[in-house]
Amino acid sequence: MYDKLMVVLSGFSYDRFIKKVIEDMGIEKNDKIIDFGSGTAKNICLMNEYTNNLIVGLDIGSEMLYVSKKRCREHKNVKIFYHDIRSKTPFVEEFDKAFISFVLHGFIDSQRNEIIKNAYEALKPKGKFCILDYNEFDLNKKNPFVRWVFKYGECPLASEFIGIDLKKKLKEAGFKHFEEHLYYSTLVRLLIAEK
Ligand SMILES: C[S@@+](CC[C@H](N)C(=O)[O-])C[C@H]1O[C@@H](n2cnc3c(N)ncnc32)[C@H](O)[C@@H]1O
Repeated sequence: MYDKLMVVLSGFSYDRFIKKVIEDMGIEKNDKIIDFGSGTAKNICLMNEYTNNLIVGLDIGSEMLYVSKKRCREHKNVKIFYHDIRSKTPFVEEFDKAFISFVLHGFIDSQRNEIIKNAYEALKPKGKFCILDYNEFDLNKKNPFVRWVFKYGECPLASEFIGIDLKKKLKEAGFKHFEEHLYYSTLVRLLIAEK
């Protein structure tokens, strides 16, 4: 249901968009990846086309866990766990890439900091944190459709998130060397930060 909703909301461009995002992550054949808030594991399946190594998905939604585990049951290198991403993960310096897609905006700021810290700890030195989410922008300067989506279709935290200097926050957590990819007329950003 979640996947279908995204396809409709994006004007049927979501599949093309998300494939491009995963391509832009620059995944290498031996990369170990952790996905924070992995949802239905649609993104994990796409990432799995680039790496032969372990991919871990973390989520707390029972429906999401059911769908994702079913979807990934043939992929022996994919492990999906029930885990609240606000808590420390059991992994230390294990992953080459940490991915978080349309999850971070839904938390209050102190919890965002916790999630960023948890991703930092799970990454190997020089590992990459790949954050796919809304870009920073002034909602008042956007067209009525975008304003409508943020007013009626998104949680209030999303409107706060777009005003946050995410690079500053990531720098404070120890990340450096930022790379950005923009989509949907710059409304959406893949921000890649190095540990
Ligand atoms: C908007 S969906 C995005 C799913 C997926 N990342 C994607 O892009 O398709 C947000 C996901 O975050 C999960 N989530 C929310 N709070 C969480 C938490 N505290 N710990 C782990 N997962 C969480 C939800 O269950 C849901 O699957």
